[in-house]
Amino acid sequence: MELAARTTHVTSSPTLAIDTKAKQMKAVGEDVCNLGTGEPDFDTPEHIRAAGIVAIEEGFTRYTPSSGLAELREAISEKLKKDNDLDYKPSQIIVTCGAKQACMNAILATVNADDEVIIPAPYWVSYPDMVRVAGGEPVIVETSEANGWKITAEQFADAMTPRTKMIILNSPSNPTGAVYSREELEKLVEVADEEGIIILSDEIYEKLTYDDVKAVSVASISQTAYDLTITVNGFSKAYAMTGWRLGYVAAPENVAKAIDALQSHMTAHTAAPSQKAGIAALKGDQQAVGDMKDEFQVRRDYVHDRLSKMPNISVVKPDGAFYVMIGIERTALTSQNFCDKLLSRQKVALVPGIAFGNDRTVRLSYATSLDVIKKGLDRLEEFLRSA
Ligand SMILES: Cc1ncc(COP(=O)(O)O)c(C=O)c1O
Repeated sequence: MELAARTTHVTSSPTLAIDTKAKQMKAVGEDVCNLGTGEPDFDTPEHIRAAGIVAIEEGFTRYTPSSGLAELREAISEKLKKDNDLDYKPSQIIVTCGAKQACMNAILATVNADDEVIIPAPYWVSYPDMVRVAGGEPVIVETSEANGWKITAEQFADAMTPRTKMIILNSPSNPTGAVYSREELEKLVEVADEEGIIILSDEIYEKLTYDDVKAVSVASISQTAYDLTITVNGFSKAYAMTGWRLGYVAAPENVAKAIDALQSHMTAHTAAPSQKAGIAALKGDQQAVGDMKDEFQVRRDYVHDRLSKMPNISVVKPDGAFYVMIGIERTALTSQNFCDKLLSRQKVALVPGIAFGNDRTVRLSYATSLDVIKKGLDRLEEFLRSA
């Protein structure tokens, strides 16, 4: 059967390939340390699970409005005001099947065929393919370890052409853990404002920042920033709710309306019980969020301390998310080779940086127990000493 052209530009997520291989090895009894996975290893907090169960048992299992339950959008509106200093009315908020659909919707609603979208690399794997699905052209801008894996205003300005429509920012970042400061964001907004470039701000890791670093919402910087920005967030990382498929997009009224119309013909809305669970997450006790963050911080500190003492690699201390980007240039291996050898020789799974647009790095995720992390790092060290 002949496929549509758009499918030829899109590949299935490369981060899943190594995960699948590691799981296969584990299934046949091999002692694999999987440091590749991109989801919290915690269970969804009990009171949130309970809200989902109650919803099902009370028969709350029918269609909801495509934009999401009014009560949930109200709760999101309040959360954005309280946590992010953002004024979005419920009518500007659309609940989605995860932040993934929120990003895809935002791109579909604003990017025309042949529009260019600037994406700083290393990037989250889905951004370039999302842009291609919409008919746009991803313009990848390489950031450097020396600059903490962040795009500078100069790089942004240099990458701009008359076709530029959007820039995608992800702070804290998957895969680098980089968090942009207010000053850095202000400079990027200044460049965006010169040509009215839309800023898609994916803030899914917002709750996971360490030491005294705090994630700043781009749209909160100024009225200009607010008018240019589409804010994306969700429940997967903050509340360990990956499988509930719950996220949202907050945007200027006309964009929100367009996204609602698009979504009404696709998924319509995410599952009704998931939305009830989302209300419980936002309105309930936030203790679990802090506890998970504290545990991630312990792991981040341990991982960074160990990696910074290992030979033949380089590492920047990440300020957020649950990933570390490891520079492997000195090993003279491609990122795929490095990961294949590490998995077959030492049974440690990492993700090749090529998946994120940088072949001189590999990504380590510390979203797993400290025991597995310790064992994995011992093995990585042995691998690097013998490489
Ligand atoms: C940067 C980034 N954005 C969005 C998502 C999607 O999250 P969700 O589970 O809410 O769709 C992920 C998931 O890994 C991510 O890393």
